[in-house]
Amino acid sequence: MKTSSSLLLWLLLFIISWVIESPVTAQPLKPPSPRPKPKKVRCRSRLFPACFNQWHNCPDDCSRDCYVDCVACKPVCSCNNPGALCQDPRFVGGDGVTFYFHGHKDQDFCLLSDRNLHINAHFIGKRDPKLTRDFTWVQSIGILFDNHKLLIGAKKTSTWDNNEEHLFISFDDTPLSLDGRNWNYRNSSLLITRTSATNGIAIEVQNSFRITATVVPIGADESRIHGYNITNDDCFAHLDLRFKFYSLSDEVDGILGQTYRRNYVSKIKVSANMPVMGNIPKYSTSGIFATDCIVSRFGRRNGTPEMDTGEVV
Ligand SMILES: *[C@@H]1O[C@H](CO)[C@@H](O)[C@H](O)[C@H]1NC(C)=O
Ligand SMILES: *[C@@H]1O[C@H](CO)[C@@H](O)[C@H](O)[C@H]1NC(C)=O
Repeated sequence: MKTSSSLLLWLLLFIISWVIESPVTAQPLKPPSPRPKPKKVRCRSRLFPACFNQWHNCPDDCSRDCYVDCVACKPVCSCNNPGALCQDPRFVGGDGVTFYFHGHKDQDFCLLSDRNLHINAHFIGKRDPKLTRDFTWVQSIGILFDNHKLLIGAKKTSTWDNNEEHLFISFDDTPLSLDGRNWNYRNSSLLITRTSATNGIAIEVQNSFRITATVVPIGADESRIHGYNITNDDCFAHLDLRFKFYSLSDEVDGILGQTYRRNYVSKIKVSANMPVMGNIPKYSTSGIFATDCIVSRFGRRNGTPEMDTGEVV
């Protein structure tokens, strides 16, 4: 009895595996993993009635992460415009120049420092035995403004499920619970809204900044192509970010911040295959809310008049 039922089970398994595998046998190579469906995005600003609420598919280059430029009424990759910070951190400066800043894993760096606004990033990563640097990603950012402290981060996770929330947020040391698809949070000049049902938010502080943050994992393909050697215990969930600033002073500094100064002349070799911003110690800081990097401007009183770096999108 026992043998016949286990025989039946084997037969069943054999048929199942045959059914699953049969289309592949004609093609010895593993088929490419199916392209994920592109994300749909729309212009949400009523100031652009001709484009408002029209849905667009994200382009192939960034099928999961794009937004609609309401002026051109076209979907645009989030990581290619000024103020972007994506992947193993690739920045697009306020001057439009793309560069990498590798920093060190498990350390904090000053992204932007101005009199009333300071933003640090916590880097996570892996040591590449073949290189002298770490592969790094931004795991969280700490924002100081108007005596407030805002922390936005990606939770450490082993396997990625996009329907699960991997974001965490805390405001003035109190964790916010991001309940529901339509969750939002308002507290005086701060407004946080979702940009997608999970893992995407927009943070706005009136007359100061708008940041969109998306949590993304390192996928198996990405790991293989870049040699990250990502294992099953950690998918290195991290933030892709887009910054927009409305009232920076001309003293602003930091890895990204300095690129918004009017007189900023990039020292980055643009012709290089992978232009890198060096001088890591200059931007190093002792904690996610610390303002002790060499280039810190936070809390300074006197200075040059304000400049406006705002632009309409
Ligand atoms: C607004 O933030 C303050 C801390 O800065 C907190 O004490 C207060 O409860 C918050 N209000 C709301 C409505 O969340
Ligand atoms: C990949 O990572 C594992 C665990 O961290 C390590 O044991 C292994 O040597 C790494 N392989 C390569 C090629 O770096």
